[in-house]
Amino acid sequence: MKILVTGGAGFIGSNFVHLTLEKYPEHEITVIDKLTYAGNKESLKEVIDNISFVEGDICDEDLIDQLVSQNDLIVHFAAESHNDNSIADPSPFIQTNLIGTFIILEAIRKHKKKLHHISTDEVYGDLELDDPSRFTPDTPYNPSSPYSSSKAGSDMLVRAWVRTYGIHATISNCSNNYGPRQHVEKMIPRQITNILIGSKLKLYGKGENVRDWIHVDDHNTAVWQIINKGESGEIYLIGADGEKSNIEVFNLILQEMGKDETWLEHVKDRPGHDLRYAIDNTKLIEELGWSPQYTNFEDGLRATIEWYKKNEAWWKPQKDTTEAKYRKVEA
Ligand code: NAD
Ligand code: DAU
Repeated sequence: MKILVTGGAGFIGSNFVHLTLEKYPEHEITVIDKLTYAGNKESLKEVIDNISFVEGDICDEDLIDQLVSQNDLIVHFAAESHNDNSIADPSPFIQTNLIGTFIILEAIRKHKKKLHHISTDEVYGDLELDDPSRFTPDTPYNPSSPYSSSKAGSDMLVRAWVRTYGIHATISNCSNNYGPRQHVEKMIPRQITNILIGSKLKLYGKGENVRDWIHVDDHNTAVWQIINKGESGEIYLIGADGEKSNIEVFNLILQEMGKDETWLEHVKDRPGHDLRYAIDNTKLIEELGWSPQYTNFEDGLRATIEWYKKNEAWWKPQKDTTEAKYRKVEA
């Protein structure tokens, strides 16, 4: 199969490329990535000779038309992905997440290719901290931030193109990923690298908010299970029963990196901060037979900390600009 991976120089997309080359070496991979502040070609350095890399924008209609026509399957990761950035400036989120997805859909419709659309559990909004329920594929959409509403809109476009034009597409909505090659703006790498540069950890509010953590490789094996076994038009929720409050994760990072709680700093909370996300993964497990490999969060976190310790050259160039951005909103 010829596979076009959009956003393949980002966190999850680059890990998807690595995993695919390892597990399915028979497939030919082309990556298209705009190399925004979040894209990093270094994330593909070990495999760059085994793929085709195109630096370009998914909003470029002619380029997307050409690339889609040359491939069998499009796995669509490219997005503006960070909530805090979407609050500061929603504009690129509307452009890439909505217009970009529309342009991909039109090329898929024209050339009759297959699409797997990568989305987020944040489209469902949030759950109360004391609510025992979880998100299911039937939970109504109720996004809170400019980021999550742009992702919700992109999902709706995919659903409409399936129903109205009969394109072949699947959608997955995954919970919070962690693992190697994640930008230092995100919660876990930000705290690990803060310790590595001698800065305090930055906790929003009281740290009661809950996220449902999944290792990036588990996300990507689930995506492959959906590509191989999923049905067009179906929605699959991806999660690995990894619920933890932010303060629990911060304490684990402190413990693992040998620091005490004087290293913890409470900073201004995120406006509209979602309380809790939790995924009911029954459909993925029962219908597609998927199961996660990283069932112990502490082990996965330890390996992730090791990766950041060993790969300072990868994250150091992003660190100062990221913290300068945060200083403006956290003051
Ligand atoms: P990321 O920000 O690390 O990577 C995004 C990539 O897309 C970057 O390489 C960037 O250069 C590229 N990109 C951005 N705009 C582009 C454009 N207009 N044209 C071409 N390339 C462009 O994001 P991520 O965390 O890897 O997320 C990937 C996908 O997974 C996103 O769709 C996101 O919504 C979804 N998702 C993320 C998580 C998570 O926890 N990170 C969880 C569930 C779903
Ligand atoms: O649920 C899936 C989503 O998970 C994805 O769709 C998004 O692309 C991804 O960024 C992530 O969104 P979150 O907003 O949950 O992730 P983030 O890493 O930004 O924050 C995780 C939690 O940690 C959240 O409750 C905010 C908090 N936080 C974050 C940062 C950056 C802190 O307390 N301190 C921080 O410095």
